[in-house]
Amino acid sequence: MNETPKTSRRGFLAGAIAAGGATVAAKANAAGDPAITELQDWSVALGEGVDARPYGYPSEYEAHVKRRSVEWLTADPVSSVNFTPLHELDGIITPNGLCFERHHAGIADVDPAKYRLMINGLVDTPLVFTLQDLMRFPRENRVHFLECAANSGMEWRGAQLNGCQFTHGMIHNVMYTGVPLRYLLETAGVKTNGKWIMPEGADASAMTRSIPIEKAMDDCLVAFKMNGEALRPEQGYPVRLVVPGWEGNMWVKWMRRIEVGDQPWHHREETSKYTDLFKDGKARRFTWEMDAKSVITNPSPQSPILHKSGPTVLTGVAWSGRGTIPRVDVSIDGGKNWAEARMSGPSLDKSMHRFYYEFDWDGSPLLLQSRAHDSTGYVQPTKSELRAIRGENSIYHNNGIQTWYVNEKGIAENVEVS
Ligand code: MTE
Ligand code: CO
Repeated sequence: MNETPKTSRRGFLAGAIAAGGATVAAKANAAGDPAITELQDWSVALGEGVDARPYGYPSEYEAHVKRRSVEWLTADPVSSVNFTPLHELDGIITPNGLCFERHHAGIADVDPAKYRLMINGLVDTPLVFTLQDLMRFPRENRVHFLECAANSGMEWRGAQLNGCQFTHGMIHNVMYTGVPLRYLLETAGVKTNGKWIMPEGADASAMTRSIPIEKAMDDCLVAFKMNGEALRPEQGYPVRLVVPGWEGNMWVKWMRRIEVGDQPWHHREETSKYTDLFKDGKARRFTWEMDAKSVITNPSPQSPILHKSGPTVLTGVAWSGRGTIPRVDVSIDGGKNWAEARMSGPSLDKSMHRFYYEFDWDGSPLLLQSRAHDSTGYVQPTKSELRAIRGENSIYHNNGIQTWYVNEKGIAENVEVS
């Protein structure tokens, strides 16, 4: 028989230890807690053997961690988008199975044995590469974010979607392995009047984009691995174009052809899509680089504060299409006061960065905001600053500061402060 005297729930709380002047853990005391006093199922039976999961997958308790779509947003799942669950992630790498998806004509199912990449147009020698051919060029490994130009697009006119998964989840950050596009273009020999490239996808949308030759020759990758393994079908298996720092629609998936030309092409969707409308009705045809942006992932509407007060960890991500993020500021009072967040993890060019801000919550309502500074000195604007320049007719390139209101119960909501 267990002789330990029964301890009341109150006694337990009173016995909590003080860490840094605040309560974060219960004092070691097994009494009354069956999670300690009783042997659990997993401790008394043998577990699954080594080959039970030849290709591993997450714990069944993590089943809620998944990509989600917004039903009313698009009419058809083959031309739609789902969102990365940013509030469930930490560090800077997005796991492959959680990378948001944006397809214009569904997921192409490409047989790698029949995969071909053609380079034609203004080149000395038009070429066709098989996957094996690509593997014989020197490779590079680089971590980059991909953000859809429409990320946060639904928020232009006001706070709308309740969760950072939906307001900011059209982004992923992955380590790519691939061949610098420059090597392939140099092998084909770009003619002196070759000023633009047009990558084309093998999916039914046959998506094409115009990219200036300077960018193509600079840091674009023809990628076939993500986070060490083959690209996922959703992300363009077997080959996609990586266009570091530039809007997601240029990162052509299932890439089958690159044409070199002397001017930008006119793409089917261009006048209605991926063009930024300004207040005066004028449009900006090309916006390539993604401006610096950040969002607090926890707490957030899908991730409430679960304790009543005391030590609280706030965290989020920040990125810039123009470099690194040396600094993020955090406000818990709607932008009146700012404190510098703590950056943790690698600070890589055109990659996500992770920040933390630990504070002692007094249990009263909060207005949480984060503000990214990038390595060019650019500072993330407020939404009103952005609207003053861009008006409210835009859908694309919304990098305004996000606000979460947290009530005294720890529940968070998407709001705007003026
Ligand atoms: N490439 C092809 N071939 N077909 C597509 O529909 N969608 C583009 C781009 N490349 C698309 C494509 C858009 S708009 C974005 S935002 C990114 O791919 C999304 O990449 P992801 O699905 O890996 O998140
Ligand atoms: Co997109």
